[in-house]
Amino acid sequence: MLSSTCTAAVRGLSTTAQLSKINNVTVIGAGLMGSGIAQVSANAKLNVVVVDSNQSALDKAQKGIESSLQRVAKKKHADDAKAQTALVSSVLDRIKMSTNMSDSVKDADLVIEAIVENIDIKRKLFAEVEAAAKPTTLITTNTSSLRLADIGLNLKDKTRFGGLHFFNPVPMMKLLEVVRHNDTSDDTFQKLMEYGKAVGKTTVACKDTPGFIVNRLLVPYMFEALRLYERGDASMPDIDVAMKLGAGYPMGPFELSDYVGLDTCKFIMDGWHKQYPDEVAFKPSPLLDSLVDAGKTGRKSGEGFYKYK
Ligand code: CAA
Ligand code: NAD
Repeated sequence: MLSSTCTAAVRGLSTTAQLSKINNVTVIGAGLMGSGIAQVSANAKLNVVVVDSNQSALDKAQKGIESSLQRVAKKKHADDAKAQTALVSSVLDRIKMSTNMSDSVKDADLVIEAIVENIDIKRKLFAEVEAAAKPTTLITTNTSSLRLADIGLNLKDKTRFGGLHFFNPVPMMKLLEVVRHNDTSDDTFQKLMEYGKAVGKTTVACKDTPGFIVNRLLVPYMFEALRLYERGDASMPDIDVAMKLGAGYPMGPFELSDYVGLDTCKFIMDGWHKQYPDEVAFKPSPLLDSLVDAGKTGRKSGEGFYKYK
């Protein structure tokens, strides 16, 4: 559990109300990211509720978390089947699933939003979350690319709002970008950093700029690979092999795009292109657009640049 060590007054509030300790975490969105965030939070002995508007997404998340935990448990307790089962069930016991958002955020100390990368949908959700949550709840987004100032536009108290940008697959990736916008209070930022450490991540501080640190570099690189392919300069498998063996990346750019989700890649780039139409690094890709239109969103749909079983 996290202990509250920060005594700094809450910037922007007229009272000296302290933000509460983080015991209860509500994750909204049970997709690739939300399920991983729920898993690492429950693994850190926090009580977790996962919310999704879609019951089948919750069912899929439940199975995904269980199989990911089994992989972790096998590694941690290689020759001890009992200890493996105990680890898996102790973490699963701390995770509840729900389709009722308002009910699920009532007792939350921390809300982490991981729904679709769409500004209007996120904005609407945040206004509803704030209305249903306690006045001390920290409210955060896992957005890949959107400005926090834009997402949180409708929030009445922006001091408790910040960014927690995790990486996919969450249980394996060691980094957490903790993002503050102009109104995030010092107390909120400090608590988000503490939460990151509690869930076993190395934290870096980011400003509210497009793509923060990692995606500002990584996403243009993925689209540059697409342009290289679209020009006919090399095949997809050759580009992937080249970047793995020549640059030491664990996945090539097409494998990685499929892993992230082609819809998410498209939403990121479309948003940036709309905001910065003259920036060549933010040019959308017709090939990517056509795959997303055809429902080929990468590994999660069984096909993207490559086919998956
Ligand atoms: N849960 C638990 N364990 C997992 C796991 C999961 N979801 N995925 C992989 N693992 C474990 C495996 O059990 C395995 O453990 P051992 O080596 O001890 O057996 C280990 O990770 C390696 O897995 P694999 O052998 O299956 O495959 P791999 O060696 O290719 O590793 C990978 C998989 C960790 C995903 C690696 O390929 C990788 O790091 N890829 C790059 C991922 C990346 O760049 N992510 C960032 C994307 S960008 C982003 O997230 C930001 C955004 O906003 C879009
Ligand atoms: P995903 O498509 O796998 O899952 C999104 C989930 O949100 C779906 O289950 C959907 O049913 C649910 N949802 C949509 N609208 C909702 C609403 N109003 N209320 C409740 N649930 C709702 O997406 P993902 O890849 O997990 O991405 C989620 C967020 O995390 C996005 O903002 C994305 O940019 C960001 N992100 C993604 C990655 C990645 O590699 N995929 C990495 C870091 C951050």
